[in-house]
Amino acid sequence: MEPVLAACRAALAKPGHVIALTGAGVSAESGIPTFRGKEGYWTIGAREFHPQELATHTAFEAMPWAVWAWYLYRRSVCRHAQPNPGHLALARLAAALPDRFALVTQNVDGLHRRAGSPDAQTYPIHGDISQMRCAADCVPDRWPIPDAVPDLGKGDAVDAAIQAQLVCPRCGGMARPHVLWFDESYDEPRFHLDTVRRLAGRAALVVSAGTSAQTNLPWQVVQLAARAGATIVDVNLEANPFGDIAAGSGGVIRGPAGAALTAIADALISR
Ligand code: APR
Repeated sequence: MEPVLAACRAALAKPGHVIALTGAGVSAESGIPTFRGKEGYWTIGAREFHPQELATHTAFEAMPWAVWAWYLYRRSVCRHAQPNPGHLALARLAAALPDRFALVTQNVDGLHRRAGSPDAQTYPIHGDISQMRCAADCVPDRWPIPDAVPDLGKGDAVDAAIQAQLVCPRCGGMARPHVLWFDESYDEPRFHLDTVRRLAGRAALVVSAGTSAQTNLPWQVVQLAARAGATIVDVNLEANPFGDIAAGSGGVIRGPAGAALTAIADALISR
């Protein structure tokens, strides 16, 4: 681990942003399943449907309450989870580097925010499972899913009382989960596309943690940053495409994200 920590310190001496790019592996230690792991959401899925089918706008149009049931079940899992040392380490880093740290997260679980990562430095590029927005996009606003909407277990249905609460506060039409679905595209107002690309183009260091590198914008972040001369570091239990890039840059840490991110934060804060 020491050579990677040294590479992180050296990168910090260069001008530019420090970006943490996180995925489901960072929340795995909080008990939230990953997507593609052995017990992952996409691996074991929902009882009736292949889960990736559910995470689409097409599915929402065809069976909105089945899709809502799936997300309200996942919302329950997230609400009962607690931030872990990995989340806390990144919140400390944000506080220590207020002008040059950015957290780009694929996670919709809200644990980074609950760990203290400030909204001004946090970019949830796949949305937030605790929020909803108008399904007809009458306005770009997002609202918290009402607290009165109860936790749902796996396979539980969304009854009429809950349906009555999942409405757009502006037009009264149906609301939808504020998450990015597989048949949808990144944009700036909802998923910080341009901001994140701009930050990546000015990065000095990118720490990728707990992601299998399977989605588009994270790839853009790593490639834009590498092209800008940034140091790339990868933290993961397993090999992955970002690890291949990091191996030729700041190096890789093959171990749990909680301990690795804590060591990286300590190394950068105490430099
Ligand atoms: N510490 C470090 N890495 C871990 C840990 C851990 N404790 N546990 C798992 N990992 C790693 C796995 O080895 C894997 O590479 O985390 C990664 C999780 O990968 P995925 O399940 O594919 O999750 P992620 O990369 O975040 O998925 C990206 O895909 O399905 C969409 O929108 C969804 O945001 C998600 C996106």
